[in-house]
Amino acid sequence: METLKISFIGAGNMANSLIGGLLADGKAPASINIADINQEQLRTLQQRFAVTICQTNREAAEAADILILAVKPQGLKAVAEEMRDSVQTKKPLVISIAAGVREQDINRWLGNNVAIVRAMPNTPALIQTGATALYANSKVSQEQRNTAETILRAVGVTAWLDEERHMDTVTALSGSGPAYFFLFMEAMEAAGQELGLDAETARLLTLQTAFGATKMALESSENCATLRQRVTSPGGTTEQALRVFETGDLRKLIKQAINAAAKRSEELAQQLGEEN
Ligand SMILES: NC(=O)c1ccc[n+]([C@@H]2O[C@H](COP(=O)([O-])OP(=O)(O)OC[C@H]3O[C@@H](n4cnc5c(N)ncnc54)[C@H](OP(=O)(O)O)[C@@H]3O)[C@@H](O)[C@H]2O)c1
Repeated sequence: METLKISFIGAGNMANSLIGGLLADGKAPASINIADINQEQLRTLQQRFAVTICQTNREAAEAADILILAVKPQGLKAVAEEMRDSVQTKKPLVISIAAGVREQDINRWLGNNVAIVRAMPNTPALIQTGATALYANSKVSQEQRNTAETILRAVGVTAWLDEERHMDTVTALSGSGPAYFFLFMEAMEAAGQELGLDAETARLLTLQTAFGATKMALESSENCATLRQRVTSPGGTTEQALRVFETGDLRKLIKQAINAAAKRSEELAQQLGEEN
């Protein structure tokens, strides 16, 4: 991993976060190349990290053992086709973080028989607390899988999927998931304020409670149901609140919401492949 050259195509938010994480893990800046059509973005990144700037995407691809595609999904086809010859010659491991673009489409645009890992990070990856699902096609070796995992671990936790179709579920669960928790916290803050707390107090208590509950769940060997039961004394306040949630069938609502997001993810992936 130390000696491998990593090239990023796209120097935006995710590339910034990944590079920051890799350097913090001890990767040498000189082994990282970056290309982007936005010169200002490139300059900012170079000043921040002292990585090597490439004039073209092709130049970056030619230098790469690992090629990370970090442009927006709609722009991926053009970028991939531009680098097809370089990829076919150099045969790097290609890691795509573009949401919703399927491995089979990327493989086709790059000229086929390419080792591709598709990664689906979420927004907290921007502050190194992401949850990323990974899928590798059959051309990816075990060593390359380890490398891809190490790279994505620089921005949070990772989980491998054995089938690419699960990416739609992942998109609905962890990809869109931060928004569900934001909604829940937003509603808790509002309820606290309606009952008389000032905005700052309601916000602080809500956010720290969400953080504390998550930390407890992560550090515990018990599942969430057991942890919930432990804080629910018979006849107490929590029991009253949970009864209201159950009466309103919150679980069914969450299931419906995640199903709807997964279905939309499938439709969007289909569209991205067809349009291109
Ligand atoms: N941000 C997230 O939380 C998140 C979460 C999951 C997945 N992702 C995925 O990560 C990828 C990158 O997202 P991001 O938020 O980092 O996007 P971003 O900030 O917009 O970065 C993309 C960069 O690529 C550049 N670019 C566009 N076309 C190019 C081309 N032909 N050649 C080279 N560079 C080009 C853009 O330049 P311009 O600005 O000039 O267009 C921009 O600097 C996306 O595919 C997204 O689906 C992001």
